[in-house]
Amino acid sequence: MTVNTDVLKGSVARPALPARYAGLLCLDDFQAAARRHLPSQVYSYVADAAETSSSHHANRSAFSSYEFVPRVMVDITQRNTGVTLFGRRWDAPFGIAPMGLLALSAYRGDLALASAAAQENIPMVVSGSSLIRLEDVAQANPASWFQAYLPGNDDGIMALLERVRAAGYGTLVITADTAVAANRENNVRAGFTIPVRPSVGLAWQGLTHPRWLFGTFLRTFLQHGMPHFENSYATRGAPILSANVERSLSDRGHLNWRHLRMIREYWNGPIVMKGVLDARDARIAVDAGVNGLILSNHGGRQLDGAVAPLRVLPDVVAACPEVPVMLDSGVRRGSDVLKALALGARFVFVGRPFSFAAAVAGEAGALHGIDLLKQEVSRNMALMGINSLGELDAHCLRAVAR
Ligand code: GLV
Repeated sequence: MTVNTDVLKGSVARPALPARYAGLLCLDDFQAAARRHLPSQVYSYVADAAETSSSHHANRSAFSSYEFVPRVMVDITQRNTGVTLFGRRWDAPFGIAPMGLLALSAYRGDLALASAAAQENIPMVVSGSSLIRLEDVAQANPASWFQAYLPGNDDGIMALLERVRAAGYGTLVITADTAVAANRENNVRAGFTIPVRPSVGLAWQGLTHPRWLFGTFLRTFLQHGMPHFENSYATRGAPILSANVERSLSDRGHLNWRHLRMIREYWNGPIVMKGVLDARDARIAVDAGVNGLILSNHGGRQLDGAVAPLRVLPDVVAACPEVPVMLDSGVRRGSDVLKALALGARFVFVGRPFSFAAAVAGEAGALHGIDLLKQEVSRNMALMGINSLGELDAHCLRAVAR
């Protein structure tokens, strides 16, 4: 028995969600399912945050520090969840945030998410630390955006950008919050490191999670060989077991605004800077020609204690009114999406939940997750008495009195 059978969208047949997942009713439900499905080390890589996880928790509590003030007796039957960004219309005000190593938790995870995003007409951002070639993701979903972890030198940056452009990407996302590798001590405690180090604990976890072992790990090795970091440079990066991996992912200490200006001269399409939190940086970025911003503390995975993006959102919107200000980190509900938009965000991105959705049920899981969030957005718009997302503003919210 399956749920969601015979569902067709456009000409693409949607894979059915296995019946055992019928109980997944919200994005957080995917996390619990993924925790059972994944080896604890791999789960930790996705789920855990840096040091004390205080930014990770702050991301959630920022959303609960606002309440809605809904309007009533409004005909909401014509409501529309669409948003236009950089001249393209999307069906929902959220997209899939870039996530590294997706293919370790979900078989060819980036491709599953890219295909789901295409069918649902939401943007998918391909990670610079993905294990799937950016060219393959572009083929699965030509509307994907590419997120670069810039190499540490000018030639390396330009060579990577040439590759990204040749693959057909239009929108370039530059992540700015990874000057050095973060302190992922919680991953180390759980036995997950980059490079991945084979251990008795990892072997045991593999054996006790056979669906992951056969469906993701062995299937990947047998069909595609050892996973490599594919998208950090113009050429293939190191295999995930290589001792050199850590260095190749963290050599960004001297990147500065000059590099952004150099990229601006080269890149014709929209450039989005991700990882900005200070309104002064946002202003510098926009003055240097950036077309959009994604406020982010990297899901609490970089600087522990960094402010939740939602808290700085109004300041950044005020400082940079001419560009779309977007946000990620902690978005789990349609109500979160609407709160961010009411505070001035044009769009939001959601990471971990889609990684968990693809881990437990591949493309069908991702489609289900996207559908759930779309339904929450649409239902909550109705309950707030609004027909278009442009109606959201600060009047829709009250800060919770503490
Ligand atoms: C990669 O971007 C990570 O946060 O692990």
